[in-house]
Amino acid sequence: MPFSSLITKTLKKIDEMGLAIDMVAPSHGVIWRNSGVSDILGAYRGWSSAESNNTAIVVYDTMWGSTEKMASAIAQGIIDAGFEVKVYHLRKSEWSEIIREILEAKILLVGSPTINNGMFPSVGGFLTYLRGLRPKGKVGSAFGSYGWAGGAVKAITGELEKTGVTVIEPLSVKFVPGANDLAECAKLAKKVVDAAEMQER
Ligand SMILES: Cc1cc2nc3c(=O)[nH]c(=O)nc-3n(C[C@H](O)[C@H](O)[C@H](O)COP(=O)(O)O)c2cc1C
Repeated sequence: MPFSSLITKTLKKIDEMGLAIDMVAPSHGVIWRNSGVSDILGAYRGWSSAESNNTAIVVYDTMWGSTEKMASAIAQGIIDAGFEVKVYHLRKSEWSEIIREILEAKILLVGSPTINNGMFPSVGGFLTYLRGLRPKGKVGSAFGSYGWAGGAVKAITGELEKTGVTVIEPLSVKFVPGANDLAECAKLAKKVVDAAEMQER
């Protein structure tokens, strides 16, 4: 993600050189040989040009399950709006896998309960990691449950904006989400999908 413009230039240079490449041996990572060479160059072409598919990534953490209920309702709303969705609990998932999925997705939604006026530590850590990678062209939102004054959703919104994500109508719910709150989650999902589709045009 952060080196995409460098990679684009390098791929162009490789094309111009017209070389038959037998092997790609990066300074770290696996060595690519034979047909693997065109596979990896093709993959880099896609990643560096920020090509994305109609997928939404929902990441969240939760203490008592309320934010998780919101994540599930949002995920269902995304499916109903015609996108694919992948949902990750941040303390049960491999972050590098989530990042790879975000790279290829159009939408990113981040959820956290409020704890001590802010977001849950795992969510803060993940957003810090993501910000350094500077993902491009994502649409998303923030959501979460709170008890009294809240704070997590505002903090997530600020982080997503600093990362360059276009944030659509963040959603907070007081304690356990009821039927109306879950309907709002579905509405948010639809709005985010609509915004991602508009951005495509
Ligand atoms: C340790 C702890 C700290 C909390 N701090 C706040 C807070 O500062 N402000 C607030 O509005 N709610 C606070 N809450 C309430 C939670 O945000 C609330 O219970 C929420 O519904 C939890 O969502 P979850 O079920 O997704 O974990 C706190 C709860 C706990 C357990």
